[in-house]
Amino acid sequence: MSAENPSPVTPTECVSTNPVEKVIRYHVRTKHHFNRYARSLGFLDWVNQPDPFRRFEGAQLISLPLLKLDEEPLSPAYSAIYARGAVTTQPVNVRSLPRFFEYALALSAWKKAGESEWALRSNPSSGNLHPTEGYVILPRINGFDLKPGLYHYAPKEHGLEWRAEFPAEQVARLLDSFPSDAFLFGLTSIHWREAWKYGERAFRYCNHDVGHAIGTARIAAATLGWNMVLLDGVDQDTVAMLLGTDRKKDFGEAEPEHPDCLAVVWPSENLKPEASFVKRAHSEMPLFLDSTIVKDLAAGSWHGKANRLSQEHGVHWDIIDEAAEASWKKQTDQLMIDLPRKSFPSPDTLHASRTTSALGPSAGHIIHQRRSAVAFDGKTSISAATFFQMMQRVMPRAERPQLERPMPWDAWPYDPAIHLMLFVHRVDGLTPGLYFLVRDSKKLSFLQQSMNPELVWTVAPECPEGLPLYWLLEGDAKRLAAQVSCHQDIAGESAFSFGMVAEFEGTLRERGAWWYPRMFWEAGLLGQVLYLEAEAAGVRATGIGCFFDDPVHEIVGIQSLAMQSLYHFTIGGPVEDRRLQTLPPYHHLQPRS
Ligand SMILES: Cc1cc2nc3c(=O)[nH]c(=O)nc-3n(C[C@H](O)[C@H](O)[C@H](O)COP(=O)(O)O)c2cc1C
Repeated sequence: MSAENPSPVTPTECVSTNPVEKVIRYHVRTKHHFNRYARSLGFLDWVNQPDPFRRFEGAQLISLPLLKLDEEPLSPAYSAIYARGAVTTQPVNVRSLPRFFEYALALSAWKKAGESEWALRSNPSSGNLHPTEGYVILPRINGFDLKPGLYHYAPKEHGLEWRAEFPAEQVARLLDSFPSDAFLFGLTSIHWREAWKYGERAFRYCNHDVGHAIGTARIAAATLGWNMVLLDGVDQDTVAMLLGTDRKKDFGEAEPEHPDCLAVVWPSENLKPEASFVKRAHSEMPLFLDSTIVKDLAAGSWHGKANRLSQEHGVHWDIIDEAAEASWKKQTDQLMIDLPRKSFPSPDTLHASRTTSALGPSAGHIIHQRRSAVAFDGKTSISAATFFQMMQRVMPRAERPQLERPMPWDAWPYDPAIHLMLFVHRVDGLTPGLYFLVRDSKKLSFLQQSMNPELVWTVAPECPEGLPLYWLLEGDAKRLAAQVSCHQDIAGESAFSFGMVAEFEGTLRERGAWWYPRMFWEAGLLGQVLYLEAEAAGVRATGIGCFFDDPVHEIVGIQSLAMQSLYHFTIGGPVEDRRLQTLPPYHHLQPRS
């Protein structure tokens, strides 16, 4: 199958049973073209708009305290979360866990226009439909009267629903190979929420949103001096079993949840060799779980039945189920990572764990104020230094050991598969035109071979040493960027916009179809870094899921599936929509301590 033949597959066509061919088929079929968008209902079925809040009826809800920004645990400066060892490690307790959820998945505001009100969250979501659900598996925690078990996070209530009771000793066994006080964090997706609006392309958007949520969780952990790594060695049946998404009777007629991923989170201080509470017998940590322990846990007591989100589903998009099934991770990979032997600098000497004006705004402020721009002013420029700093933030430094990579790339246990094709419009000191960020220098010649051979790859002028940023073409790309982004002005009225181009077909054939969602996760994670960087730089960002796939590829002469653009993004000077009223995130709840 090639990008030159993008016509959708008809039901009569012979369809391969090979999972890689299936996800490629899904991808090609869900491309937008100038003359034809990917299949969707074509109108919004408002009566059946999905409820954005999943609840498990019958499961006990434990309300978490709503903490003000000036209450403990205080947020470090935004700049400190990027300085290794600069944030004081918080213990996992009744105040830090609510903070973690507040910065990762909580409501951040309500917007109101006339009679309509809708909630925004710390994590962004395509169409604000929020298909992503969050979970934690907690061990017994000293001084915290939550029972060991599986909890579902309810963002509207800022509470934890107790889905399953797990015996403390068994949870301790499950977590034994991780640092002290570790807990697990899990994400699932309700595909229907996105499919209701976006039809067949929705599986892509759900996975972008997972990537954003991995990002918000990793960054939330960083504000507490915690580490996080994706446990991506785990097979998906085990993820399903641990998060209870395979419990058909708990879901009944309700929309199912697709189990996406698990991560381990722990207080970074617990890795310091001199820490008295360190329990490290090994210098390596697994990125997989013992599935026999998970089976034992899953046999425990479960509570609650999932609520139904839409009365009726006008259309069911089978191809989403097919893509989800084809990309199911069947195998356990016995991935191990090294735990750092050396101690981190002491936070006491760095003084970076408190918000001070010298260190700039707090991470908490930046996370709360993050919004997607709905329009840009077409005027605001950013400095080249700011632009280069943003590019540095998305460099994963994959040559380093996992936990020594810069946050949040220390959570992503892979080399990068995503590179950036940038339309620079208004960056002071940089000539407008087309640029390319090669996020892994080893891939330069592969990228060059996948694109138009006539492109000249010149290192971008004034580019900081070690940043593989290339200048490909000079020119005004404002109209072009908007045109290929489904005619959305936000791609041209900004300071710059870009496409996230994946090493596509080779990655799938080499690693397997289960890598299809992971490319979208990596793109979402990258987007999340830049959402916050934009806020910190006094500008604003917006993710762009709607773009014309192949017209984007034609710009740089990508003619095959070797490379595919998966997600677009834009950053610039925002224009506020003054017709909208903003309300505090938890104004609907009684004040509680
Ligand atoms: C994967 C993804 C794709 C998106 N695509 C678009 C888009 O094509 N156009 C747009 O204006 N906004 C887009 N957005 C922005 C969302 O509409 C926005 O995140 C959502 O309304 C929630 O608002 P907030 O980001 O301010 O919390 C996208 C966001 C995500 C995460």
